[in-house]
Amino acid sequence: MGGWGSGVKFFGPGGTVTFWGNLLYRDEVFVVALFLRPVPHTMRGIMKRMLYMETFGCQMNVLDSELVLGQLHARGFESTEDRSLADVILYNTCSVREHAEQKVWSRLGELRGAKQQRPGLVIGVIGCMAERDGGNLFSKFPHVDLLCGPGELDKLAAMVHNAVITTDASLDAGSDALRLNAGSTAGMTVGSPPARQVALMGSSVRRSSTLAAAEDHLELLDLSRSIAAENDVAQAYVRITRGCDKFCTYCVVPFTRGPEVHRPPQNIIDEVKRLADAGVKEVTLLGQTINHYAYKQPDGRTITFGQLLYQIHEAVPHLPRLRFVTSFPRDFSDEALQAMRDCARVCRYLHAPAQHGSNRILKLMNRGYTTETYYDFVERARGFMPDVSLASDFIVGFPTETQAEFDQCAEMIRRCRFKNSFIFKYSPRPGTPAIDRLADDIAEDVKRLRNNALLAVQQEVCIANNQEMVGRTVEVMVEGQSKLVSRQAAYPSSRIELGWTSAQGQRRTQMIGRTRGDQVVVFDADPLIKGQLLNVRIIDAKNMTLFAELVA
Ligand code: 5AD
Ligand code: SF4
Repeated sequence: MGGWGSGVKFFGPGGTVTFWGNLLYRDEVFVVALFLRPVPHTMRGIMKRMLYMETFGCQMNVLDSELVLGQLHARGFESTEDRSLADVILYNTCSVREHAEQKVWSRLGELRGAKQQRPGLVIGVIGCMAERDGGNLFSKFPHVDLLCGPGELDKLAAMVHNAVITTDASLDAGSDALRLNAGSTAGMTVGSPPARQVALMGSSVRRSSTLAAAEDHLELLDLSRSIAAENDVAQAYVRITRGCDKFCTYCVVPFTRGPEVHRPPQNIIDEVKRLADAGVKEVTLLGQTINHYAYKQPDGRTITFGQLLYQIHEAVPHLPRLRFVTSFPRDFSDEALQAMRDCARVCRYLHAPAQHGSNRILKLMNRGYTTETYYDFVERARGFMPDVSLASDFIVGFPTETQAEFDQCAEMIRRCRFKNSFIFKYSPRPGTPAIDRLADDIAEDVKRLRNNALLAVQQEVCIANNQEMVGRTVEVMVEGQSKLVSRQAAYPSSRIELGWTSAQGQRRTQMIGRTRGDQVVVFDADPLIKGQLLNVRIIDAKNMTLFAELVA
């Protein structure tokens, strides 16, 4: 055999310092020839690009991230947990409170230098902050290349792809625009750098609320979900409704996620079935006001939330657990409560945020119900299911809130015996009716005091609830190792010994599981049981934590 044959071309690592080479062969001998030539940026489309994504906020965002990651992986992007290795950095953001936005601002601030050093880096802000702040984000952070609101995420994979290609092309052409973009804001026109990609719904063009989900392009995002048994996940989210029509005066969600759109029941059932077939044991249905679900079929019949629960329960008998969040207290029909009672695999857990215990504040919040309606809902829920576990959200320090009105929140927690409450200090959000109409007149330290006081009341109620659990045997979904164990893994030099071998030679460690009522339980077990459903006996309740042992 004479001459050198040419084998597989290969490329050096991604980023800007790139080389390529050739695998040459003669007879049986293979030689690697390194040409040390920079790969044209435009050719790097065929190489694997590393993608770093960080998600902030609610379960809806977690699901959105999972779906867009699936689409990006299908286009050849590979996920990395190390931001410094990434070619594309995406933040899926939350705008509900200013604190959530500040975290993203600080991440974006950190990336200024990285972009200067590597102009080829693509930085994207997606989700509610992108929608709420729009082009202003470009002025504050000129090194951001891509904005995509939650209502436009079906376009994201194509946008990221385009951003990468245009950035490469501009670098090859030696475009100044990119370098300018990476440097300072001086002389820059928003939207001018070539790599910029923008897809926002725009608050003035809310999608039509009569739009059926089947005609809604966003449905494609949910339908694109890749479900494989080898993914080996025990828990999954399935969206049933997008957006919100309630317009609570403090809340950005109706503006960032648009109007309520209900997904067709058959699409939901198919998705739940495919997940259960792949081994998922617990599906959580998602919607901002989930019990308001009402899908108008072509034959004119409306499928309600209660009917949907019955249908999923019947169509997917091999799914051990079905749960849902978040409920709107006013819309709870007896039919939905009956469905929860009748369907044994639907978890008896209701997260129905009350937000406040005073009728005057509820009115200012535009919640559309009174405390009497809320108490009636709790009574009806417990009437159908005496063992139902209830959870709430509260906002303290809403404009004009008096001490006496605040005290009514504490009264509500005691009276409803919530399993837990998420308590937030009011955060005025640009674009909401409350920020325009009501001065944020409760001092920050008063908000903090009220927040802590309400947490203490909820803690008392928790302890009493937990004491009642001692001695009971409950089913838990094993979620993983306890926080204590994870902390030890992060700081191996700590001298706490949390993993050990039992007398029978099994590896044991402290695990956490979640009951059907959403209570967290701690117990010792083999770490390999993660993702299983099993029974434990509650043996102790200390403060907020339930301790249990495995039932043979
Ligand atoms: N300030 C404080 N808390 C808020 N929430 C929504 N908007 C605000 C705001 N502007 C809370 C509500 C809601 C939860 C997701 O966040 O309690 O139920
Ligand atoms: Fe926001 Fe109110 Fe809709 Fe919940 S119901 S998402 S608080 S507007």
